[in-house]
Amino acid sequence: MDTNDKNDIKTKQEVIKDLLKKKNAILLAHNYQRDEIQEIADFQGDSLELSIKANKTDANIIVFCGVRFMAESAAIMNPDKIVILPNENAGCPMVDMITAKDIINLKNDYPGAPVVAYVNTSAECKAVSDICCTSANVVKVVNSLSGRRVIMVPDKNLGSYAQRFTDKEIINWPGYCPPHKRTTPENIKVLKEEYPGAVFVAHPESTPETIDVADHVSSTSGMYKFVRESNAKYFIIGTERGIMYKMEKENPNKVFISSNKGLVCPNMKKTHLEDIINSLTNMKNIIKIPEDIRIQARKSIENMLAL
Ligand code: 13P
Ligand code: SF4
Repeated sequence: MDTNDKNDIKTKQEVIKDLLKKKNAILLAHNYQRDEIQEIADFQGDSLELSIKANKTDANIIVFCGVRFMAESAAIMNPDKIVILPNENAGCPMVDMITAKDIINLKNDYPGAPVVAYVNTSAECKAVSDICCTSANVVKVVNSLSGRRVIMVPDKNLGSYAQRFTDKEIINWPGYCPPHKRTTPENIKVLKEEYPGAVFVAHPESTPETIDVADHVSSTSGMYKFVRESNAKYFIIGTERGIMYKMEKENPNKVFISSNKGLVCPNMKKTHLEDIINSLTNMKNIIKIPEDIRIQARKSIENMLAL
């Protein structure tokens, strides 16, 4: 990056900081966001931490730099606040792999089984589910439920991951995360030969075969903690590359290798500094959820947060 580009970024970051202050707004950023957004976030975290933070803030406006379902969760919990998704096209393909109707059909097929909705679902899907979960608390959520069977939507990989830690029968839906699917045991084998002693860190959205060869599995924020506390020098990071910005900054003597060149989530990269400036200046891209759906969806998120 040349000096002009760096100055341009600095200028935009200052504009955003001013706008946030003037409007009593808070900027929340997911761990996969662009480096220049992570740099100015008031709070950065994984899906669970961001839900908790969004639930606690005193700000009038929440600028949510992540993907739509995350901003929707913030809006579900904060009807008196304005929640902005700076780039309205930042979605998540996994969210679109299931509908509320599909969940209702599953409930009919498995009467009495509670539905655990990964936060990566639409507000409509959350509204017809019993409890939400994130990758950080999925096992705790599943084990907190009564009954022998649990329906988990929409990520079949997260469901298979949770199945390893529970005696309950998990009924999975065949959704998945396209970027995480691209890391395979073959990738890891090649990288481990290249970097002997490297520790492979995987996300629960990875396929079961990839989880099988992982040295550590956790949510994105769990990964920061793990690499900070580990004595290893080389880490193969099996999640979106945006996470490596803070890892490198916090651990200058450690080396982080992406598990796969394709491990980029195009939706997480859709938000640029310009989008934050435009949306906040013009009060655009405000998340709106019909009240009846919001009230029902809120119960599922609250049930999760109560744990
Ligand atoms: P976490 O940050 O909660 O681990 O989730 C990763 C993810 O893919 C969100 O879409
Ligand atoms: Fe969706 Fe996967 Fe991107 Fe997360 S990383 S937002 S699950 S596509």
